[in-house]
Amino acid sequence: MDTWESLLAECCACTACELHKTRTNCVFGTGSTSAKILFVGEAPGDNEDKTGTPFVGRAGKLLDQFLFAVDIKREDVYIANILKCRPPQNRDPLPVEEDACIDFLRRQVRLLRPKVIVCLGRISAQRLIKPDFKITKEHGIWFEKNGFLITAVYHPALLLRDPRRKEEMLEDMKKIKEKIDTVL
Ligand code: URA
Repeated sequence: MDTWESLLAECCACTACELHKTRTNCVFGTGSTSAKILFVGEAPGDNEDKTGTPFVGRAGKLLDQFLFAVDIKREDVYIANILKCRPPQNRDPLPVEEDACIDFLRRQVRLLRPKVIVCLGRISAQRLIKPDFKITKEHGIWFEKNGFLITAVYHPALLLRDPRRKEEMLEDMKKIKEKIDTVL
């Protein structure tokens, strides 16, 4: 059985895909290990690679604002990504990279045992909910999978490019807050 410490050590020593060659830090995940809500992004960016912490760049600051707006404390949730190492130039993860990395997330989920999983963006939703997930049509919808309640919201980086979608994001985040207040 994993422990958080052994899984972190294994993850940071991982050489299963090419991305280990260009990483500064592996970005394992942060937050409360007793969190009942898990947010899952796509992959680390430049700031995350430099610091080893997920969602600390511009997109992360925007995520913080939405968490604050609906009264969810960042320290009460757990935040991780599908990929633990940064893809060069922030390109989309390759299927082979996701396949090499997804077991770490699976094992994090087994340790955390969250009640609610929130996918941040299309890449995460297509991996964790269904391969043909349409983020513009299906964000905010709840699914039940393997005993978890799971939903997806827009990726904060998309909201930086298209701020008009922030209203929908706020509505989705309010529903997530309601959901966690009812299930926890
Ligand atoms: N985007 C992500 O998907 N994850 C991060 O950690 C940072 C930006």
